[in-house]
Amino acid sequence: MLTASLTLDPAFTVAPVRRRTFGSFIEHLGRCVYTGIHDPGHPTADADGFRGDVVDLTRELGVSTVRYPGGNFVSGYRWEDGVGPVAKRPARLDLAWHSTEPNTVGVDEFITWCRAADVEPMIAVNLGTRGVQEALDLLEYCNVASGTHFSDLRRANGSQAPHNVRMWCLGNEMDGPWQTGHKTATEYARLATETARAMRMIDPDLELVVCGSSGSGMPTFGTWEATVLAEAYEQVDLISAHAYYHEEDGDLASFLGSAIDMDRFIEDVVATADAVRAAKKLTKRIHISFDEWNVWYTGAAASVLPTDGSWPVAPALLEDHYNVADAVVVGNLLISLLRHSDRVRSASLAQLVNVIAPIMTEPGGRIWRQTTFHPFALTSRWAVGDVLRVELASPATQTAKFGSTPLVDAVATRDPKTGAVAVFAVNRSLTESLVLDVDLRALGAIELEECLTLANPDPHAHASVDDETTLVPRENTDVKREGDRLRVELPPVSWTMLRLS
Ligand code: AHR
Repeated sequence: MLTASLTLDPAFTVAPVRRRTFGSFIEHLGRCVYTGIHDPGHPTADADGFRGDVVDLTRELGVSTVRYPGGNFVSGYRWEDGVGPVAKRPARLDLAWHSTEPNTVGVDEFITWCRAADVEPMIAVNLGTRGVQEALDLLEYCNVASGTHFSDLRRANGSQAPHNVRMWCLGNEMDGPWQTGHKTATEYARLATETARAMRMIDPDLELVVCGSSGSGMPTFGTWEATVLAEAYEQVDLISAHAYYHEEDGDLASFLGSAIDMDRFIEDVVATADAVRAAKKLTKRIHISFDEWNVWYTGAAASVLPTDGSWPVAPALLEDHYNVADAVVVGNLLISLLRHSDRVRSASLAQLVNVIAPIMTEPGGRIWRQTTFHPFALTSRWAVGDVLRVELASPATQTAKFGSTPLVDAVATRDPKTGAVAVFAVNRSLTESLVLDVDLRALGAIELEECLTLANPDPHAHASVDDETTLVPRENTDVKREGDRLRVELPPVSWTMLRLS
């Protein structure tokens, strides 16, 4: 059997595991908000109309931060529409998703939901159709304690304490021609810089995310980052990156290599940011907010917008059903994010509920976990302490997209307080089981606690509302301890977590 080897040494670390790596995203899109998190008629709904079962699964998923309210939606959003008495809130056309936005849920409700789900809010301002003033108004509404027009309005609307939102996105995907109010890099750089500068006049310690590219395949990728950072570098902390992957034309082997693209994307953004830093002779480093990533079957039937001229409220959009291979890719993308924890300081799985999501709901009814739920939940729970700089050697295969592609990818974390180690690994081979041979010499006395693997003879099998329990990670008994080595068999197209303590 082919063997990959992995050497772990606590002396070599990348960076601390960042809790914000395990963020997610709630957009006013499809059924993410309405009949997703908010469903007042649901048996588990609380007094605010939020589904208790969604809050429970959000906690089980281990979500740290949640980005809101978009996404493309934010580029036409008037945040004032979503505050105050619900009966008086206007309905609006949402140009991004050809829907009607009833504004039943707005920023106050979102913050209430965040507190219930124990997640940190991350708010995007509209730099598509709006600008500096509206961003300042929203910041005043959220973060100023009292004594001003918008802070007192928040208090009158029921929130005495400020929402104290620390992370703010300066627009969304402004490089994309599909974006309402799309801008050139130069136009956006000026607007983002001035918005950031003004927001810091209210609160200098905000963590501000400037828009990077909406994909590494964008024609402006690289020059966009360089132009925007040349202007905004001193005013921002993070630059965003977005990436979605899916199996195309039956090329599962390339799809399973998606993390290679994410690795390159991150490293290219880091190189670009550092080049601007060098030219400016600064010491400050810009970090990455990978605030949209996932598998997304763009163009598949589930993702098609209505064409009959109707503007429905909360239509079912982008409700992809994920299979085992998708879960392996999600697990691998998390491996990529973790291994770059020195520069990726925040990330958001897009999205949380119903819309390209790990959690699915029926309106007023059942809730279920997609296959992608499991690698995310287990990585979020057990990746603790420091990310180790591992030495990995793997046999490779040729893929159409990436050329020579290592069959195994892995990352490890170690909690310096307890010595507990977690290894997350994928086998990208379509046909071969592989042995992962882990060298534990440097770890001292350590025992295997648990080995879980997600795999299935049919990698295209997916979970459903009627069966969410068949395709879950199961105990992997093909593990052997041989002195200072641990040998675990990884089945084809699989994701595995090993825990040692
Ligand atoms: O997450 C779905 C959409 O993908 C978001 O609205 C947008 O930012 C991206 O193009």
